[in-house]
Amino acid sequence: MQFDPMNADFQQNPYPFYDELRAKQPVVWSESMQGFCVAAYDDIMTVLTDSDNYSSSKFWPILLGEYDPAPEVQPMISLDPPDHLRTRTLAQKAFLPRELKKLEIKIQQISDDLVDHAISVSKDNTFDMAWDFAALFPVSVIAEMLGIDKSLRLDFKHWVDNLLAASNRAIYDDARLAEIKHASDSLRAYFSKLVDERTENPGDDMISSFIQAEVNGERLSKIEVINLAILLLIGGTETTTNLLGGLLAGYHDHPEAFAAARADRSLVPQLLEEQLRWQPPVQSLFRHTTREVVLNGVTIPENTMVMTLLGSANRDPEKFPDPTVFDLKRDVRGYCTFGQGPHFCMGSFLSKFEAAIAVNKLFDRFKVLEPLQQPEEVRWIDSYFARGPITLPVRYELA
Ligand code: HEM
Repeated sequence: MQFDPMNADFQQNPYPFYDELRAKQPVVWSESMQGFCVAAYDDIMTVLTDSDNYSSSKFWPILLGEYDPAPEVQPMISLDPPDHLRTRTLAQKAFLPRELKKLEIKIQQISDDLVDHAISVSKDNTFDMAWDFAALFPVSVIAEMLGIDKSLRLDFKHWVDNLLAASNRAIYDDARLAEIKHASDSLRAYFSKLVDERTENPGDDMISSFIQAEVNGERLSKIEVINLAILLLIGGTETTTNLLGGLLAGYHDHPEAFAAARADRSLVPQLLEEQLRWQPPVQSLFRHTTREVVLNGVTIPENTMVMTLLGSANRDPEKFPDPTVFDLKRDVRGYCTFGQGPHFCMGSFLSKFEAAIAVNKLFDRFKVLEPLQQPEEVRWIDSYFARGPITLPVRYELA
């Protein structure tokens, strides 16, 4: 069977392709990726939780290639245990629920300001949910946490989008590659200068705390701090944007779920959980075999790329009955949206926390908020990695 994640039809709607893979060849060689793609839930869990056999060390190099803004060191997402633990231990302190809850009022304010912004740019009671709200919201939150200049939030958003587009670099022309290079250079230059400034004059922000923190009596080097800040900016930006954009993009598929959550706000977290299962913003992760392995009857040689298809795992009927149905009452435990195992997303609480604030704010401020397009008309980002609408015009009525 042929499977090409670079295929434009796949990137617009991967789910029929996943269904076919799970039914016919759940571990399949992909010529374009030069690796094995894994589609069934159980196999994906095996790959993600077994870091002895499936290493993360080439994750970043595969995703960003020569466009990595800080290639001298690998970010934690691309390190295996035990090295991985050093940065993870240091960084995750800032992501504990009790720390994040302190940000609630600021996040409320950011979402209120962005609703004002969306209304101010709207025409005929219509604005673009993807750009006028969802794109700006998480980047403003993470800018607040990192202590970076909020007036540059649109630049950050473009830089992160362009950098992540490096995953499609094999099929881009020189002009597009130049944009990606510019994004990579801009991120590096910005954070390099910022780390110098915060080393001189520490503030009450995450970057200053990374500069000063010690793990086992050792400080992070300048390039490690730059690398960590860029990882958090990437992790904290596109993913939650696509969660919110993707949520609204599915509105006409299951309006009753939105109506229920609007009427009973205690259902908002479950609306988000089911959305995270149904339309995961990160669709694939990469590992490399450290030795020859046999996965679901397929022998994979040593040092071979393995791509786990998270969107497929979340729609595996063996794990989630009637997986295409958006069901507010579903038990979503075990979904693969935030990965599994040692690299389980460090921002999972933050993303759900901030997204719930945003959804409640949208319900509070708009009595009607619905896309002009049906789900099948939505145009999705050209990517096998990130999934979110490129643009999403919505019609609103103020509450
Ligand atoms: C809906 C939103 C999000 C999704 C779907 C998501 C998804 C993921 C996934 C699938 C992984 C696992 C990577 C792997 O196993 O190789 C991951 C890791 C990570 N995420 Fe997220 N993420 C989200 C939000 C965030 C936010 C808001 C932040 C922080 C600001 C963040 C920071 C990270 C970091 C630092 C890692 C690496 C953890 C490690 O290597 O130990 N993520 N994320």
